[in-house]
Parts: sequence; structure tokens; C-alpha cells
Amino acid sequence: MICRFTLDSATEFLLGKCVSSLSAGLAYPKNSPPGQDKDYTDHPANVFARAFSDAQSNATFRGGFGTLWRLAEFWSDRVKKDMEVCHRFIDPILKDALQMERSMKEAGQVRTEEKGAFEDTLLGHLVSCTEDPIVIRDETLNILIAARDTTASTLTFLVYMLSQHPHVLKRLRAEVLSTVGNSRRPTNEDVRDMKYMRAVINETLRLYPPVPLNVRTSVEAVLWPGVNGDSPIYIPPKTRTLYSVFLMHRRKDLWGPDAEIFDPDRFLDERLKYLTSNPFIFLPFNAGPRICLGQQFAYNEMSFFLVCLLQNFSSITLAEDVQTRRSAEWTKGTGHNSQEKVIVRHHFTMYVDVSTSFLES
Ligand code: HEM
Repeated sequence: MICRFTLDSATEFLLGKCVSSLSAGLAYPKNSPPGQDKDYTDHPANVFARAFSDAQSNATFRGGFGTLWRLAEFWSDRVKKDMEVCHRFIDPILKDALQMERSMKEAGQVRTEEKGAFEDTLLGHLVSCTEDPIVIRDETLNILIAARDTTASTLTFLVYMLSQHPHVLKRLRAEVLSTVGNSRRPTNEDVRDMKYMRAVINETLRLYPPVPLNVRTSVEAVLWPGVNGDSPIYIPPKTRTLYSVFLMHRRKDLWGPDAEIFDPDRFLDERLKYLTSNPFIFLPFNAGPRICLGQQFAYNEMSFFLVCLLQNFSSITLAEDVQTRRSAEWTKGTGHNSQEKVIVRHHFTMYVDVSTSFLES
């Protein structure tokens, strides 16, 4: 359901046209009886969501082969089939946009940058820069991943965390009701004033960063200082270096002894010292020149969702019977993983795996 919410919100904001996937009704686990109903599986919103996700999983797998991926897929392209589904979904929107731009030019109409107008959207800007449908399509799908899956990921883990920490939900709901009331829509000022909400969102981004792995390529040779007395690490020039934001966000030497515990207060009390003295330990949106361009939009969208959710619900329960089963070995572990009640997976972004649920086990 959350993926549908973020798809609708991203398409409205970026493409100027909401695809109304929420109108598909409730979402069901894949292997539950309603989840196998043909009307449900063949609904355009579900077909797109499945293909979009599978294409990303396969593209991530491809990434493992580096520049040699074409050899690994010599006989068959792992991503093509799903991408065709995505293209069928997105192409009519792009065709309409190009047509609108052409008609405007023919009629000699002046473009307006008025807020909310089509010209003010990402797609409006794209069609004014190029008529190349492939460039427009690639840019559009790229930003859909950036805008839709990341916020869907955070909101999914937020709801999961609220189901596991009822005292956090109670306090957050009290803040929502005292700031916004029980029916009004939140304003930008409301969002700015809800400090506990920002802390809850940040704590979720810390434990479940939607982009858990990232990569950079060194320009020149560089020596990284060793950690905890280890020897320095030599990175040759032009070397791809993977780093895990997920692991960094859970490091006790950076976040303190309770680093693995979900506690939004760490963004409000004296534990904030860990972050203020070393801001680069919290990188859900990355940092530097390539920092996320949609950070503020994402905070607003997620806050809006949480306000509406908590205006309507006073408790949340995790349906454990429809979660993917964890292996016995996993539950016996010692770390945070052993307590996890959902299966956390990732392709470009992190998500909760509900692909093999109760009926299969
Ligand atoms: C919780 C939500 C989000 C998270 C955690 C997130 C995270 C990130 C991260 C980690 C990057 C940097 C990738 C890199 O290392 O190069 C990034 C880039 C980007 N994000 Fe987001 N993002 C979120 C939401 C959004 C939204 C809603 C939009 C658009 C409305 C957006 C648009 C972008 C764009 C355009 C870039 C590329 C910037 C560039 O390469 O210069 N993001 N995001």
C-alpha cells in the first residue's frame, strides 16, 4: 500500500499526472488467497510494481559482474522482460507530455513556471529540453526509483517500528494531535514544529537506510586512516569502492553502546553529541555535491503520511503470520537480526520481503 502511495505522490509531483494506483484497493501478501486472484495480480498497479521491483533486483545482480555483465547475459537479458512492462506503463504518460509540448509550441503559447502547472514538473522541464523519447524515459524512470522506492522503504520500516514500539507511537500520536488536530491537513509549519516526528523518521533512516550500500570511484590514489588501531588502507586510483551505510549507522564506536536499539530520543538528548561532532556518521541522503535532491520533499511526504496515519489509527499490529519465515539459524543469532520480525532485503533500495509467506512454508 505504501509503494502505491509513494508511486501516486511521485507521479503527481514529478510527471504532473497521478497514476492513481491506490485506487487498486487493498494490497495482499503474494501467497494469500486474495493475493493470487487474477483480478488482483493483473491490476496495472500491481503489474507495474512487480516488474519495477524485479527489474531492480536483476539489475543489482548484474552490477555484481561489473563491466563484464554482458558476457554473463550472453544468451538472455535478465532485465528486458520487466523493463518492457515498465515501459508500457510509463510510455503513454510521456507520449501525452511530448504531444502537449508540441501543441503548445505550434500554438505559440508561452511556457509558465507557475507552481503546480505541468511546465513546473520534472517531466515538463524534460520535454522542453529534448524530444528524445529514450532520454525522457530513462530520466523519468531514474527519478521514479530515487523518489518512490526510497520513501516507500522508509515508510514501511517506520510503520514496522511503530508496531514494535507502542510507546513511540503513543508519543508521536500525541504530538500529531496536539499540533495538527485529528482531521486537518498538516502545513509546512506543523511539520517543522513536530520535533519528535523528525526524530522518529531519522531513527528509522539510521537503522534502515533506504540506500544501504553505496559506491565511489577514487580519482587519485589515497590512504584511508585505519580504524581502531588497524593499519591504514591504500586505495589505488580509479578504484570502485563499496561502502555500507547500513553497517556504519549501527556502529557502536560511532553511535554509542546502544547503537542497535531503536530509540528516537538519541536525536534529541545528549546522545546527539555523536552526530554533531561527526555529521558524516549519518548518511541516509549521502552528502557533498551529490547529496539527495529530494531530501526536503521526502521529509514532507513522510511527515504528511504519518500525520494522516496517526490521525486515524491509535495502534498498529504486525501481522506476523504473513511475514516471510526466517530460518532457525537466523533467529538463534545474537545481533539485532535475531529480533527482526520481517525479512529485510535490498536491491538498489531496502525493502521488506513478503515474497514467500505463510502458505509456502
Ligand atoms: C527517504 C527518502 C530518500 C532517501 C533516503 C534518498 C537517498 C538518496 C541518496 C543516498 C542519494 C545519493 C546517491 C549517490 O550516492 O549518488 C540520492 C540521490 C538523489 N535523490 Fe534521493 N532519497 C530520497 C528521496 C528522494 C526524493 C523524494 C527525490 C525526488 C523528489 C529524490 C531525488 C534524488 C535525486 C535526483 C538524486 C540524485 C542527485 C545527484 O546525483 O546529483 N530522492 N537520494
